[in-house]
Amino acid sequence: MASPAPLTVERLGFAWPNGRTALNHCSFQIPKPGLWMLVGSNGSGKSTLLRLIAGLLIPRSGQIHTPLKAALVFQNPDHQLLLPSCSSELLLALPEGLSSSERSDRIHTALEQVGLSGLAQRPIHTLSGGQKQRLAIAGALASEASLLLLDEPTALLDPSSQADALELVHQLSHRAEQPLTALWITHRLEELQRCDGAAVMEEGHMGPWQSGKALIQQLARQLAPLQSGRAEG
Ligand SMILES: Nc1ncnc2c1ncn2[C@@H]1O[C@H](COP(=O)(O)OP(=O)(O)OP(=O)(O)O)[C@@H](O)[C@H]1O
Ligand SMILES: [Mg+2]
Repeated sequence: MASPAPLTVERLGFAWPNGRTALNHCSFQIPKPGLWMLVGSNGSGKSTLLRLIAGLLIPRSGQIHTPLKAALVFQNPDHQLLLPSCSSELLLALPEGLSSSERSDRIHTALEQVGLSGLAQRPIHTLSGGQKQRLAIAGALASEASLLLLDEPTALLDPSSQADALELVHQLSHRAEQPLTALWITHRLEELQRCDGAAVMEEGHMGPWQSGKALIQQLARQLAPLQSGRAEG
């Protein structure tokens, strides 16, 4: 039997207490593990969607189906890393009921998977921004999440750490055993080159999946008249 889709969202609706509608009949499916990207203008509802999928907000209408455990990765890792050292941070993420040797094995494995081997005792404030972002991803792995919800995870990183983070999530979502499903919000169009599918969020609902390259071309065509107008003006 075919395995169930990692994520199905059906006619999702959400309004903030001030009455502002953030999502409106938002429907889509992630058909298989991989790296899936979401773009859209400011305020179109992307972050609200991730918070709903993560269970931090309750939808007003519609449904979310996923057989996977979800974990959010924020734009600013300082907003999610709470404890003083890498190992204490990961300890917090581990499921309950493990023996002490299992806990240390899991911490070791999570750090290894994100390229931070040997840094278990490092104080978090000594990590670079890129390393902190990788530690946030290690926390998601340690918590046994396999649906990663990444909200502009590279927005604050320099170009080299940006590329490292993108390659890391690409690799984790394409590994042979238990590949992750990643839903990645970005305003950096060049990142779309690495995705398995990309969609545009507009006024609270999502367009169809298309290839990252096709979407880059479509967005470049939409921007071209604006840019030539600016050059002429
Ligand atoms: N805590 C909040 N209270 C009230 N309205 C909110 C809140 N957070 C977001 N909104 C509103 O919900 C709508 C969707 O916001 P959201 O943050 O999901 O957009 P976004 O696509 O992530 O934008 P950006 O690209 O700027 O991050 C916007 O109109 C926004 O002003
Ligand atoms: Mg946002």
